[in-house]
Amino acid sequence: MPRVYVDKVVGDLYILRVDDDETRYFEALWSIPEGVTYNSYVLLTSEGAVVFDTWKHIYADLYVETLRRVVDLRDVKYIVVHHTEPDHSGSLPKLLEVTGNAPTVLGHPIAKQLISAFYGIEPRFRAVKDLEEIVVGGKKLKFIYIPWLHWPDTIATYIVDYGALLTCDAFGGFGLPKTIYDDDDAVVEWYKPFVRKYAVDIVGRYREYIVKNIEKIMSLNIDVKIVAPAHGLVWRRNPKQIIDLYYDIGSAKPSEGKVLVIYSSMYGIQEKSMNVVVEELRARGFKTVIHRFTDREQASLGDVLADAIDAEAIVIGISTYDAAPFPLVELAIKLLVAKVNAEKPVLIINTFGWGKLSEDTIKSLFSSSRFRIVDIVSVRGAPQRSDVERIKQGVEKLVNSIRK
Ligand SMILES: Cc1cc2nc3c(=O)[nH]c(=O)nc-3n(C[C@H](O)[C@H](O)[C@H](O)COP(=O)(O)O)c2cc1C
Ligand SMILES: [Fe+2]
Ligand SMILES: [Fe+2]
Repeated sequence: MPRVYVDKVVGDLYILRVDDDETRYFEALWSIPEGVTYNSYVLLTSEGAVVFDTWKHIYADLYVETLRRVVDLRDVKYIVVHHTEPDHSGSLPKLLEVTGNAPTVLGHPIAKQLISAFYGIEPRFRAVKDLEEIVVGGKKLKFIYIPWLHWPDTIATYIVDYGALLTCDAFGGFGLPKTIYDDDDAVVEWYKPFVRKYAVDIVGRYREYIVKNIEKIMSLNIDVKIVAPAHGLVWRRNPKQIIDLYYDIGSAKPSEGKVLVIYSSMYGIQEKSMNVVVEELRARGFKTVIHRFTDREQASLGDVLADAIDAEAIVIGISTYDAAPFPLVELAIKLLVAKVNAEKPVLIINTFGWGKLSEDTIKSLFSSSRFRIVDIVSVRGAPQRSDVERIKQGVEKLVNSIRK
């Protein structure tokens, strides 16, 4: 049985959280041994309850059972769908079934189309407008469009009475925190890397919208006392902390001195060149974070991206494989370009046996991205003295490019 939490966040607002430790690949792509939570919220009012998002479909029965602990299902008046990705809308069909389709679903106009496309159902639906306010049983809700976090359908709800901002994916993170709230500094510090991973892997493709939407929320002059996302911790002690963290991720703010090193090494040959890179960087005072594809370990692509977003620079070692870039490194680059795409300098090492990769092949991997390739150093097999010199020169260019 997955762990379930039910708690009063504030006043008549409740959280229903389930800890998913079964999903191994989130979105069938990102390896998450750390797990993920789905947080649904329920607001009780004198005119009936408002449910905000649900859980993934595998927990639909458990969801309904848990919701019954907080509210008589006949009292559910509205179901707000902040975002239709099935990790949140998956239990909606079940919830509508057990409530006899009585509640009205509220959401972005696109949500209506997606609910019908995904589940073949046509619930009673009312599209909400950007910044529209409604009053339910004396409680005022303000809907705020936060497009592309991370689908076009995404909205947030601000519960005026409590200063609570319910944001679905935005401000969420992977992991199964031991606490529901941000009360414990140790939990918060443990959790932050999972926020970075979640934000970059899931929302990164549209990260400019993180910045734009945070600025939009700030411009509304609302007092945000609680940030309640649909994954991970609820922020009610220090909501500014998660907003600032997301802002830094959205703007790909570098951590001083951090260099990400990614490489393949099938038989440990390219690793010798990469060791030169790492030693040289460390000697110059940089902190290197290394992700490898070898016969012993296979880097998690989600972690690679999380370490890229706040790196000052990136070094990528590509083995030549069947006259092409080593496939997993190629995939890592493809995802870096798609999800991180930041103005960061990149040094490429290409180790080969009988035919190096052309510069065009390597550059085309980064085409139309913001990454700046500062140098491509091709090395035949293990690095000779002259190769070591060229590698060091490459590192020199990388370092100069950071400090420019
Ligand atoms: C399966 C395999 C395919 C390879 N394909 C090529 C190739 O097409 N062209 C080439 O120049 N070298 C090729 N090589 C040689 C490697 O690029 C070269 O040995 C390099 O030093 C590999 O370093 P690594 O073993 O640390 O990854 C291949 C090696 C292996 C094991
Ligand atoms: Fe999502
Ligand atoms: Fe989600």
